[in-house]
Amino acid sequence: MLSHDLLKYWWLLFQHSKLIGQRTDIFRNVEDAFTLKHAFTFMKPAKIYVDIGSGSSPLPTLIHSHWQAKTFATEMDPACLKRQRTYMDILGLRADGFRTQKEDATRLTFADSSVDMVTAVSTIEHIPGNGDSLAMREFCRVLRPGGCLVVTVPTSAAYTEQTSTFYYSGFERRYDRATLQGRLFCDGLHLKEQLYLTSPVSPTSKRVFDQLQDVFNGQNPADVWYKQGWHNAYPDLSILLTLGLIELSETRVEESFGACLVFARG
Ligand SMILES: C[S@@+](CC[C@H](N)C(=O)[O-])C[C@H]1O[C@@H](n2cnc3c(N)ncnc32)[C@H](O)[C@@H]1O
Repeated sequence: MLSHDLLKYWWLLFQHSKLIGQRTDIFRNVEDAFTLKHAFTFMKPAKIYVDIGSGSSPLPTLIHSHWQAKTFATEMDPACLKRQRTYMDILGLRADGFRTQKEDATRLTFADSSVDMVTAVSTIEHIPGNGDSLAMREFCRVLRPGGCLVVTVPTSAAYTEQTSTFYYSGFERRYDRATLQGRLFCDGLHLKEQLYLTSPVSPTSKRVFDQLQDVFNGQNPADVWYKQGWHNAYPDLSILLTLGLIELSETRVEESFGACLVFARG
């Protein structure tokens, strides 16, 4: 976070999450801050912005509030769309500038070359079959030339597919280097930046990690966080774990547990 200048974006997300009554999370602290950093570089008023699989993400309303971009928070799940509408109401956003819309990432209703920025945070890994590849092709289709795409997905040393995990009740895959390339890269999308979430190796991060080992009685902190309810009980402390447990690297793909990718539409 610190070495990649992400803390100031986390702070905006933290404040915004408080406004809309949403908690922050160890991994989203990185993924959302990374996405927001790229939105700051790319977005301008009057641009068209689409978030895919918005869930309870603070990003669509935050990005809309900053740039007044015409924003679409999209989902398959009606309950998530309802939640995004609750955020709209809390923030007083008008429906002509901020829309919630049912969309399947694998067959979007947006016209070719009609969107300036697409974000899909921890979403396409949940689409079974070849849904992730189809979604990437759809993002490429709807983006204007020069448009920006931010995608985040989980990674591991070997490619895996699971029907459910302890933190998600549906399908999830984790990508290795070969499947990242083979499933997610496609003609027309040029990789501009890649950042991998890894365990800490720097002395400062290791020191935080070591001291948190005491706090968590030697158990895996991520397990305690999610499986023993700390996620719900102490969400504001998530940034401490993010800083202590996650180091960002452009190159350590094999050791990573998450990837943040930015593409430009050619
Ligand atoms: C792990 S959640 C991530 C939500 C949000 N992006 C975030 O950062 O918290 C994955 C979301 O993807 C949505 N999803 C699953 N399949 C989808 C599809 N084919 N098209 C669009 N969204 C989908 C799910 O409904 C779910 O809300």
